[in-house]
Amino acid sequence: MMNALFDVLWQDYISLNPQAESIKQILADRGDSAVNDHIALRTINEKHCDIDQLAQPFIEMGYAYSDTEYIFHEKHLRARHLFKEASPLVFISSLQLSDLSAQSAKILGSMVEGHKPDVMSCARPWECSIEDYELLQKESEYGAWFAAFAWRANHFTIDVNALNSFEHIDELCVFLQAQGYQLNESGGIIKGLEEQGLRQASTMAARQVVEFSDGELEIPTCYVEFAQRYEIEGKIFREFIAASADKIFESTDS
Ligand code: NI
Repeated sequence: MMNALFDVLWQDYISLNPQAESIKQILADRGDSAVNDHIALRTINEKHCDIDQLAQPFIEMGYAYSDTEYIFHEKHLRARHLFKEASPLVFISSLQLSDLSAQSAKILGSMVEGHKPDVMSCARPWECSIEDYELLQKESEYGAWFAAFAWRANHFTIDVNALNSFEHIDELCVFLQAQGYQLNESGGIIKGLEEQGLRQASTMAARQVVEFSDGELEIPTCYVEFAQRYEIEGKIFREFIAASADKIFESTDS
């Protein structure tokens, strides 16, 4: 069951971001297999599709919420994460409609009306126009991304600790750049410190032509993240760092 859900999300994700498959391949060529550290899903805080609704299928698989709540004031986001022994973490963020202009809140609110999140069915269930997409983009890149892609997986994450051919995320980033991958440089290529327990990096999202109700537009889709985790008080840190995640969100900015 668990693999079925992650497999569906992965297949959909690589259709939006074929880079993920190619990075997996170049790591395989070095004898490394990519282990997933976490996935991330996005939503808005309407009751029928809030974080709790998205978390539901994972709770049914035995996942539990961590107590930590992440708050991103400038981006009007909140997030939680779920964990399960020997399984990828699940990071779910949510855009706070009450923090947006009445116009943006109305566009997003009416899009999701009558649509329950179904992470197994990846297609966006609502119509979205280029006009609304661009309007949302001015206020919230996150909101625009969500309008275009709904509850599809925003990223998968390569667990750097599980790689044998790289000891540190720094070397991996140098290697990826030499291979021509563009990394997100907002806040520096590597976000976070060893003493915080987590250092992360990500590619800039791939771009793809997406169909809207009034035409086609090439827009940022999904990105690949890389995470190296460290021990804190004798245990591998399995949470997130809000200041780092704040910059990682910008990997889907246009
Ligand atoms: Ni992430």
